[in-house]
Amino acid sequence: MFTLSEDQQALVEAARAAAEAELASTVKADDEAELFRKDLFHKLGAAGLCGVQTAERWGGLGLGYVEYALVIEEIAKVAPAYAVSVAVSGLPQVILAKFGDDAQRERWMPGLAAGELLGAFALSEPGSGSDAGSLRTTATRDGDTYRLNGTKFWITHGGYADIYVVMARTGGPGPKGISAFLVAGDTPGLSFGKKEEKMGLRASPTVEMILEDAIVPASNRLGPEGNGFSVAMSALDSGRITIAATALGISQSAMDCAGRYAVTRKQFDQAIIDFQGVGFMLADMAVRIEQARLVTHKAAWLKDQDLPFNHVAAMAKCAATDCAMAVTTDAVQVLGGYGYTREYPLERLMRDAKVMQIVEGTNQVQRVVIARHLKRGWE
Ligand code: CAA
Repeated sequence: MFTLSEDQQALVEAARAAAEAELASTVKADDEAELFRKDLFHKLGAAGLCGVQTAERWGGLGLGYVEYALVIEEIAKVAPAYAVSVAVSGLPQVILAKFGDDAQRERWMPGLAAGELLGAFALSEPGSGSDAGSLRTTATRDGDTYRLNGTKFWITHGGYADIYVVMARTGGPGPKGISAFLVAGDTPGLSFGKKEEKMGLRASPTVEMILEDAIVPASNRLGPEGNGFSVAMSALDSGRITIAATALGISQSAMDCAGRYAVTRKQFDQAIIDFQGVGFMLADMAVRIEQARLVTHKAAWLKDQDLPFNHVAAMAKCAATDCAMAVTTDAVQVLGGYGYTREYPLERLMRDAKVMQIVEGTNQVQRVVIARHLKRGWE
């Protein structure tokens, strides 16, 4: 738990090398151009990084969430947008592994795990964000098919993905009326609207999804009717570990940049790290990152042991993403005016950190999950 095995260390080094080789040279320009390159995602797949947690039988590496978190952190150190891509494309894999049938797995898992196919997850809507159980997209049964109608919002990979897990209402109001469906990217009636212009994570496309009489075979439903909210919540429980890992990569990268600057930058005839005000800022960054990494790896380890983990995943998501916001803000401060310019990566990392406190459940929603867990223990 506290040290990496030789195999884990080798995986970290392989992930670091692949991320540096494939992503480092374009990260700045792609942030500025708001450009997602699917070919770079495929290259991460070719390096074995898109199905770390998926069983070997289905084309993955058959490792656990600890390894998955380690890989995501390494990618995020270089390019957070692609760490999120690997995490989001992991959601359909996690869902198929737990809720899919063998025919669905055979169709989609090997391609997703190899990074040849890109996956996405469609839960949120214009009027349904934190209150995910109030979603309004409908799926109406029609013989051997369902007809899907509605609008989904904030869809990472919208228009780029080959397969979307879409939550839609098949029954009455509330969470129990929701079902989950696999919707192929080339489904007639599926189209994409506005691409969001975002503060950060700009190389990651966030797009509106429109379903107008999109016909989906009934065999694409994941589990029984009415189980869709559990499918979504369970995927997000795991996904929150990967967002925490992304935030760790952002934090580590920002601290290292600030630290390297602070040992070389001299003012008043000494390196600025030797001013206690700066040295303590870096020490506080290290404390926060260490705490966040421990709770993130604990959540991953609990999941790997099949122990209850969702409240710890929520803690990890809060701890690591709040850490990323604080660390990147202070890292900009260490560099002063230079930190505020685009000559250094810190202003980009600070913008990328902000969205980590919002995606896959705001940090307020994480606190709802944690408080409910605590309440159950005290009742
Ligand atoms: N795992 C499995 N099933 C679960 C579950 C979990 N973690 N949590 C709840 N359920 C099921 C249960 O069966 C529950 O029924 P019972 O009461 O019979 O047990 C049912 O769902 C309803 O649960 P709740 O009463 O807890 O539901 P709620 O309406 O109160 O919602 C919430 C709770 C935690 C606020 C939830 O709505 C939530 O997590 N909201 C945030 C949604 C979110 O994270 N959205 C992000 C979307 S993805 C994204 O960001 C971008 C991307 O590209 C991926």
